[in-house]
Amino acid sequence: MAITQINTLFLLSLAFPYFIFFTSYASTEGDVLLTFKASIEDPSNSLSTWSNTSLTNYCNWTGVTCSFSSMTSLNLQSLNLSGEISPSICDLKNLSFLNLADNLFNQPIPLHLSQCNSLETLNLSNNLIWGTIPDQISQFSSLKVLDLSKNHVEGKIPDTVGSLKKLQVLNLGGNLLSGSVPFVFGNFTELVFLDLSQNPFLVSEIPSEIGKLVKLQQILLQSSNFFGKIPNSFADLQSLKILDLSQNNLSGLFPQTFGVSMKNLMSVDISQNNLMGSFPSGVCEGKSLINLSLHTNLFNGSIPESIDQCLNLEKFQVQNNDFSGDFPSGLWSLRNIKLIRAENNRFSGEIPDSVSMAAQLEQIQIDNNSFTSKIPQTLGLVKSLYRFSASVNAFQGEIPSNFCDSPVMSIINLSHNLLSGQIPELKKCKKLVSLSLAENRLSGEIPASLGELPVLTYLDLSDNNLTGEIPVELENLKLAIFNVSFNHLSGRVPYSLISGLPASDLQGNPQLCGPGLSNMCPGDNNGRQSFGLSKLTSALISLAFAAGIVVIAVGFFTIYRSYKRKSQRGSWRSVFFYPLRLCETDLMMSVDEKCAIASGGAIGKVNAISLPSGELVAVKKLFNSGTLSSKVLKAEVKVLAKIRHKNVAKILGFCHNDDSIFLIYEYLPKGSLGDLIGRPNFQMQWSIRMKIATGVAQGLSYIHKDYAPHLLHRNLKSKNVLLDRDFEPKVTDFALDRIVGENAFTSSMASESAFSCYMAPELGYSKKATDKMDTYSFGVVLLELVTGRSAEQRESDDSLDLVKWVRRRVNISDGALRVLDPKISSSCQQEMLGALEIALCCTSVVPEKRPSMFDVTRRLQSLSNVSSHPPDIGFSNFDEYSCPV
Ligand SMILES: *[C@@H]1O[C@H](CO)[C@@H](O)[C@H](O)[C@H]1NC(C)=O
Ligand SMILES: *[C@@H]1O[C@H](CO)[C@@H](O)[C@H](O)[C@H]1NC(C)=O
Ligand SMILES: *[C@@H]1O[C@H](CO)[C@@H](O)[C@H](O)[C@H]1NC(C)=O
Ligand SMILES: *[C@@H]1O[C@H](CO)[C@@H](O)[C@H](O)[C@H]1NC(C)=O
Ligand SMILES: *[C@@H]1O[C@H](CO)[C@@H](O)[C@H](O)[C@H]1NC(C)=O
Ligand SMILES: *[C@@H]1O[C@H](CO)[C@@H](O)[C@H](O)[C@H]1NC(C)=O
Ligand SMILES: *[C@@H]1O[C@H](CO)[C@@H](O)[C@H](O)[C@H]1NC(C)=O
Ligand SMILES: *[C@@H]1O[C@H](CO)[C@@H](O)[C@H](O)[C@H]1NC(C)=O
Ligand SMILES: *[C@@H]1O[C@H](CO)[C@@H](O)[C@H](O)[C@H]1NC(C)=O
Repeated sequence: MAITQINTLFLLSLAFPYFIFFTSYASTEGDVLLTFKASIEDPSNSLSTWSNTSLTNYCNWTGVTCSFSSMTSLNLQSLNLSGEISPSICDLKNLSFLNLADNLFNQPIPLHLSQCNSLETLNLSNNLIWGTIPDQISQFSSLKVLDLSKNHVEGKIPDTVGSLKKLQVLNLGGNLLSGSVPFVFGNFTELVFLDLSQNPFLVSEIPSEIGKLVKLQQILLQSSNFFGKIPNSFADLQSLKILDLSQNNLSGLFPQTFGVSMKNLMSVDISQNNLMGSFPSGVCEGKSLINLSLHTNLFNGSIPESIDQCLNLEKFQVQNNDFSGDFPSGLWSLRNIKLIRAENNRFSGEIPDSVSMAAQLEQIQIDNNSFTSKIPQTLGLVKSLYRFSASVNAFQGEIPSNFCDSPVMSIINLSHNLLSGQIPELKKCKKLVSLSLAENRLSGEIPASLGELPVLTYLDLSDNNLTGEIPVELENLKLAIFNVSFNHLSGRVPYSLISGLPASDLQGNPQLCGPGLSNMCPGDNNGRQSFGLSKLTSALISLAFAAGIVVIAVGFFTIYRSYKRKSQRGSWRSVFFYPLRLCETDLMMSVDEKCAIASGGAIGKVNAISLPSGELVAVKKLFNSGTLSSKVLKAEVKVLAKIRHKNVAKILGFCHNDDSIFLIYEYLPKGSLGDLIGRPNFQMQWSIRMKIATGVAQGLSYIHKDYAPHLLHRNLKSKNVLLDRDFEPKVTDFALDRIVGENAFTSSMASESAFSCYMAPELGYSKKATDKMDTYSFGVVLLELVTGRSAEQRESDDSLDLVKWVRRRVNISDGALRVLDPKISSSCQQEMLGALEIALCCTSVVPEKRPSMFDVTRRLQSLSNVSSHPPDIGFSNFDEYSCPV
């Protein structure tokens, strides 16, 4: 009561001067902004345009938007602002949008903003807001959008929140709320978006009124400790598009009418709970589309409603629960479905033939269930499938000959089923990385055509009834795992499959013979001859390889010459972000190969050049594909040049003409990590290696996560890690896709990645670059630091790339110790093993298993913090990490 009175008085006192100064209203609004600014700390001087001198022009100030010469919106997100959010801002009578997200405001929820009568959107996401949500939150009754996510708001959500009846968006995710969610949610009849996720201290059931929110499209309650049953009223959320209830402690049955009238459903994630019973089998069932195609005419063009069901569903995730009963079969044939995850339940049922209609399907993970059918012939028709993981089920019958026909198929795991018959010839799945058919009843020979799958790396055929010889063609593969134990194989084991691989992966085949096995082959001369042969082959291969490089180099030289000639004519434009005295002729001269500091691949080279002042800068030449206009190009380089992080090399400026772009980076005296590691007598203390690893991880994490816009590096390798005098690393050559354009970038990387072991295996089939590809490349750099081996220089007789070289060894017991750089004292062993584990996680074949660079940074940091533990010999903890493959 008292508060309302004060409010009224306050408003009156404001209204009064407004009438008097109506004619000079404009400057009044400007004054209000200056008053608001006065209580704000602005270390980066982002509000420099807000000044007395431009008062009449306040509509043009940073973040300000006016409409009809009255200010309606203030957007000050991501400016490092702190200080006090002053109530004076409410003197702006028409202010309806206020976004202060992503700043450093450190205070309780600014209740006084409820005096802003027109305010509809309040966004305080990602600040340091603390304290509880007061009962007076009800005063914000005009709000339509309230975003308090990612703060430190604690305590219970008060019942009074129920009077915010106009709310369309409520985001309280990522806070420290506790207690139970009040039963007032039924009042939010306009709500479209609700996020209470990531509140680990909530202990609550899901209020059953939630079913009244018929406009709700997204409900995100993951990782917030919700328990109890999912209310049956959930089935009434007819507008639902995205449902995420994962990682809670929900139990009991899932509402059996769920999905029946949800035509817009796009994503269902209820994974990692304790849900049980059968999943509503009618979900997405409708009439089968096969029937539709036969009967459309009979329906006279009109499609029966039930067919509309779930037509938009893309993701269905119910893994890690306790569901039983038949898996809803309608899901398998949805037009838009991309992801089906149901592993670790007790589902029964089958994959129907109609799966061929799921033409967008990319991933199936149904391991550890009780599926019983055959593997349908039609699965091979799904051309987008890249992962099919169905281990630990009761699939039976023969493996259809086309089951690997998807051109992007990368991971197949059918281990521990009841499959019989022969392994079919697999020729079409050129992207297959991992094939596990272990623990089945397969018979016949190992098809020699497996040797034609160029990236096959993990092959597990153990515990079957395979016979015949191991085909020599498998020597073509760079296998990291080759497990054929416990079959009935016989004959000579091809030499390269014995060397370096654990002998245990051949055991249980008493008729195999070869060096190192218990049986020697009859006539050992033969052995040496075939060994010699394989040497010859590899010599031939390297010869062909070298010839290829020469051809490419000649090609580049020619192109480069013609560029050089042309570019002498083209006009140059230069933009410097730092005071530099540099002219284009310096640049042209610098292209002289003599002073290249690091060879940068097809995308260009890095050269050190000396300025007239004596200063050194590094210059990288890129071919200008011409896809970006000069203006856009400038904007893009500026995006990269604005990055300020101690582990990211600064861009000092750039020059370009129609043919070339020269990026000018700061020069670092120690050159690149890659050059150091490549030296034959490479020596570096462990603590320095950790410093480099941590620094690189921080730099990447910064561009991935903290810098706006988020960037991807896309070409990390040790040659792109430069070191300053104190061995502080700086990553360089980042995000060049933005400068040369996506197409030019991917095609130049494609020509390079054939040689590069820094590239994540999914690069071949994935449509989109991800941060997890950077994580992979980082993992390779970390392996270089741990092993002291360069990833790019391979020893002639051991042409495995570094990742495979390491994986082969760590799979042998005690092998982990043997990959560590022997030049480092054993007192660092514990930390090195820790770093090795991280590197193996980062280089997991499966992108989702790789940690984010932020997590990597934290894990590296905590390694050096706990280094005082006594060394623990062996690698017994390895399996605790969930990402060994
Ligand atoms: C607004 O500011 C920009 C620079 O920030 C300036 O180019 C433009 O002329 C200004 N517009 C007005 C109307 O003052
Ligand atoms: C606020 O906006 C309304 C129309 O939306 C307009 O009539 C009114 O004049 C504006 N108020 C001020 C102070 O400009
Ligand atoms: C915000 O502060 C951080 C750390 O001080 C700094 O790195 C960053 O550049 C600042 N961002 C802006 C937009 O000023
Ligand atoms: C609030 O601002 C943040 C940061 O820009 C943005 O990500 C978020 O979507 C905004 N919230 C709403 C509800 O628009
Ligand atoms: C919810 O709405 C009802 C009726 O519209 C109202 O009586 C009740 O007070 C509201 N609840 C809260 C907590 O404001
Ligand atoms: C989850 O809920 C069950 C009861 O359904 C309870 O026994 C268990 O302690 C809960 N687990 C957690 C982690 O809260
Ligand atoms: C298989 O699923 C069951 C639940 O149905 C679970 O208890 C078990 O741990 C799972 N096994 C593995 C290896 O994950
Ligand atoms: C295949 O599945 C089995 C059983 O679930 C698992 O142990 C194995 O690690 C999987 N293999 C790969 C390569 O993912
Ligand atoms: C394995 O194959 C042999 C013949 O090749 C057959 O005699 C034997 O019964 C098979 N074993 C099993 C377990 O299928």
